[in-house]
Parts: sequence; C-alpha cells; structure tokens
Amino acid sequence: MSMDRIQELNKKREAIMQGGGEKRIQKQHESGKLTARERLNLLFDEGSFVEIDAFVKHRCTEFGMQDVDAPGEGVVTGYGTVDGRLVYAFAQDFTVVGGSLGEMHAKKICKVMDMALKIGAPLVGMNDSGGARIQEGVDALSGYGSIFYRNTIASGVIPQISVIMGPCAGGAVYSPALTDFIFMVDKTSQMFITGPQVIKAVTGEEVTAEDLGGAMTHNKVSGVAHFISPDEKQCIEEIKRLLSFLPSNNMESAPVFECEDDLNRIEDKLNEIVPDNSNKAYDMKEIITTIVDNGDFMEVQPYYAMNIITGFARLNGKSVGIIANQPKVLAGCLDINASDKAGRFIRTCDAFNIPILNLVDVPGFLPGTTQEYGGIIRHGAKMLYAYSEATVPKVTLIVRKAYGGAYLAMCSKDLGADQVFAWPSAEIAVMGPDGAANIIFKKDIEAADNPAAARQEKIQEYRDKFANPYIAASRGYVDDVIEPATTRQRLISAFEMLESKRETRPAKKHGNLPV
Ligand code: HXC
Repeated sequence: MSMDRIQELNKKREAIMQGGGEKRIQKQHESGKLTARERLNLLFDEGSFVEIDAFVKHRCTEFGMQDVDAPGEGVVTGYGTVDGRLVYAFAQDFTVVGGSLGEMHAKKICKVMDMALKIGAPLVGMNDSGGARIQEGVDALSGYGSIFYRNTIASGVIPQISVIMGPCAGGAVYSPALTDFIFMVDKTSQMFITGPQVIKAVTGEEVTAEDLGGAMTHNKVSGVAHFISPDEKQCIEEIKRLLSFLPSNNMESAPVFECEDDLNRIEDKLNEIVPDNSNKAYDMKEIITTIVDNGDFMEVQPYYAMNIITGFARLNGKSVGIIANQPKVLAGCLDINASDKAGRFIRTCDAFNIPILNLVDVPGFLPGTTQEYGGIIRHGAKMLYAYSEATVPKVTLIVRKAYGGAYLAMCSKDLGADQVFAWPSAEIAVMGPDGAANIIFKKDIEAADNPAAARQEKIQEYRDKFANPYIAASRGYVDDVIEPATTRQRLISAFEMLESKRETRPAKKHGNLPV
C-alpha cells in the first residue's frame, strides 16, 4: 500500500480528533467543561479507550446542513477498561453542532448500547447536547426513540449510568431517566422538559435554568438525579467508585475486594449510640460507617428524602446495598419520596445481585393530607413490593423503633428477610406507646381521677410490654437479639451464610409494580 493512503487516514483521523475546532474547545473550557474526548480519557484506564465509528457522517441536506462538516457526528463512542473491567461509553461533543442528536449520531449511540448489552458490560453515557438536531426533524426524534427503547431493554441486564455535563433538554432527558443512575455536575449541567422561556410563555412563571433544572434541583428537590459533583473530574472519579460496587451484568456478582478491615471488629460505641429516651435522635450514618469495611459508604441520593438513607458499602470485601431510616430527619418516618427512593434502590440492588441490609428505626408512615392526597398508599406499596420481589440475600437489623406498616415496609421476616436481628433497644409494636395507650386505654384514662397521670401510667405499661424485641423474638419474627458492639461480625457471618441463597418465583411476564 502506498504511504499516501496511510497519510490520508492519519489526516482524516487527526481532523476528527479536533472536534469542533480550537475556538469551540476554548469556549467549552471557559464554561468550566471538558471536551468529550477529555472526559473519556479521564474515565478509562490510560490508553485503554478504543473509539469506534469515528468516521460516521450525517446525511442531512436540509437548512444548509449539506455544508456542515460534523467531525465524529457530535458524539464519541467506544469501549475500554475502568479499573481493569470492560466498560462501554458515549460522550456527546458539544463543540460539534452543539452535540445535537441526529439520525447518525443516534445510530452511533445505539451501536455501543447494543454491544454493551450483547457482551454484558456497563454503559456510561455522557450528555452535553442541544437536544434533537433541529435540521433533521423526525429523523432526530426517531434517533431518541431508538435510544429509549434500548435503555429499556438493557434495564436490569447491564448497569447504565448517565452523566449530565451540559444541557440535556426536552425529550432528551428521558434517556438518562430510563437508566440506573444519573450524575450531575454542579452549575454546568441542566435537565428540563421545557426550558425557562417556554415556561414563561405558557405559565408566566419566571425561573432561571439553574433553579429549574440544575444539579442541586434534581439532587434535592425532584429526586431525578442520584449524585452531584463540584466539577467534572470529581464526577468521573465518583462514577468509577460506583462501578466498583456493581457487577458487569445481571448474571454476575459485584467484584470482591480483599478486606483489610477486621471481620470481628467489636465496636463498644455502638452499645451507647441509641439514646435512652426513644424520642431523641441520633445519626444512623454513624452506625453505617462503624459497621462496614473501612467506614467506606457511598451514599446514593444523599440530598433527597433524607429521612431514608440508601447507598453501597462492603462487608468482608463484598458489595451490600444499605437502606436505613434516618432518625435525624422527620424522625425517620416513611413518606412518599422516601418510599420512591428506597423502592427504586431495592430493585436496583436486586437486579444486580447485590445483597441488601436494612437498618430499621421507623416510627411509622408520615401522617397528613399532603401524604394521603399525594398517594402514599401506592408509593409506600412500592417498598413492600420491592422487598417481597427481591430474591437477593436480605438481612434486617432493628435498631430501635419498628412500628406498624412501616415495620413491615422495612423488610420484616414476612416480606422475606432471611435473617432479622434486633438490638436490645428495639421496640416492635403496632404503634408507638403514646398512640396505643390513647386508644386501648381510652376509657380507663377518662375515668381516672388524674387522667394525665393515668395516661402516663398506661403508656409505660404498653412500653414495658411491647417496646422491646423479646416478644417478636419469642415468635421467631426476630432470629436473634444481639449486642450492638458485635453487629459487624454478626452481619458478615449472616451474609456469608446466605451467599449461595437461591430463591425462585412463579413464572410470569412481569409483575405489576404500583408505579
Ligand atoms: C442543531 C444546534 C442545536 C440543535 C445547538 N445547536 N442546539 N444545532 N440542533 N438542537 C448549535 C447552535 O446552532 C450552535 O451552532 C452550536 O450548536 C452551539 O450552540 P450555541 O447556541 O452557540 O451554544 P450556547 O449559547 O451554549 O447555548 C446552548 C443551548 C442552545 C442552550 C443548548 O444552543 C439551545 O437552546 N439550543 C436549542 C435547544 C433546543 O430547543 N433543542 C431542541 C429540544 S427538543 P454554531 O454553528 O453557531 O456553533 C428535543 C426533543 C427531543 O430535544 C425529543 C425526544 C423525544
């Protein structure tokens, strides 16, 4: 072959590597953003990224597009290794026609999605785009449709991670929404169905793009996103950390790490952590970081529905998903948002063979018309459904309160918990002693000479009877009452015992989760 052909190849490739050119790259950097290729280089192990479809071109001839050269078609796609494991990725290139998505841009994304699904490896999608390429009309819409379809088919088979690193507007937001996790970068990313201008025109409401769809809005208010990072570099580090907790696909287990932490570590401070006054709060996160390997806990949705904690950690080097009530926020009550957050997380763990640990201190479901009118019945049902449906090992530790429906909703024995432990501070009953005394001793209290004193007496009577773990343990609803200091060792031993758990369900097309 003549050297000319090699030179032609090199020249073409070199031009594609420049994306939208120096000026647009500079603009990208000035706005605090990296380019698509810089992002991929940070994600993948050095030198491991293999680009595919670099030479793909659009076929649009409308509105001057015939004269537009769009290097790489506005998206870089390929595969490589992250911490030695195969991962597929696409990164939209905002420097090329604003990263807008047309027919061929979508085809590139669909190709890596198909490969990731066939081979069984995670897919990371980096979004930075002006949305559907306006000049391409219905072809662009069709492109989105074929991505949504693949997101859905791949759901529960391979982990799909979306990263928002710029605009993501209109129907384009639905691809990330169909994936397992959404990362957003603070101040430089936005997601919305309709932007500020349309909102102003239709409803008269004035709102900035950041307030409407910025990273904190979606992490704290809407619950659409799962993670927020101060900049792109840290965001990519967090993506790698998340991948380390996940298997490559639903047929595998998450990677096992050598555990450098003492498996039998006794933590006396856990004997003291729950206050004697059961109405006093404490920080459940302290319990979590005390019992897991090296105190390493990756919280998922840390700013949303903070009355429930969800996240990943390891016990004896193996991934566990943790769902825990947070007594510091709303006394750890379950509400609509907490139910949605937990229900989704439980299903994510179950889909990817990650055992589940539940830490319970729940006074009940949050009362009120806002909750009832908002449909707490169907939202709360998601937790019951998700726990009952999950076949991964499930271990529940009742730390303090476990009342009524919320006791069941936090994965009681009856919802299939394989092991239930309780600390001596556990209170397992139909409702809290105050409410219970008001109802069952109503007549006695009313008839008493001193109703207030009688009420306190009856509350104490109910507390002495039920506010402990021993009645539940006497029926076998609790497998063992354990000393808090020994919790780490007891949990590790339980999960080791459950490792080969196999549970089957009746054959069905799919269940009917109360969405
Ligand atoms: C074609 C686009 C484009 C688009 C941006 N560009 N968005 N080209 N289709 N959707 C081009 C611009 O013309 C410009 O080209 C370059 O990308 C950079 O854009 P700028 O506007 O200069 O950048 P900036 O000022 O940073 O503003 C970014 C932006 C804005 C806020 C995203 O470009 C914008 O509002 N774009 C349109 C957004 C939109 O309405 N998209 C359709 C959403 S509906 P030059 O050549 O000048 O560099 C949708 C439906 C999906 O997506 C439905 C799925 C079911």
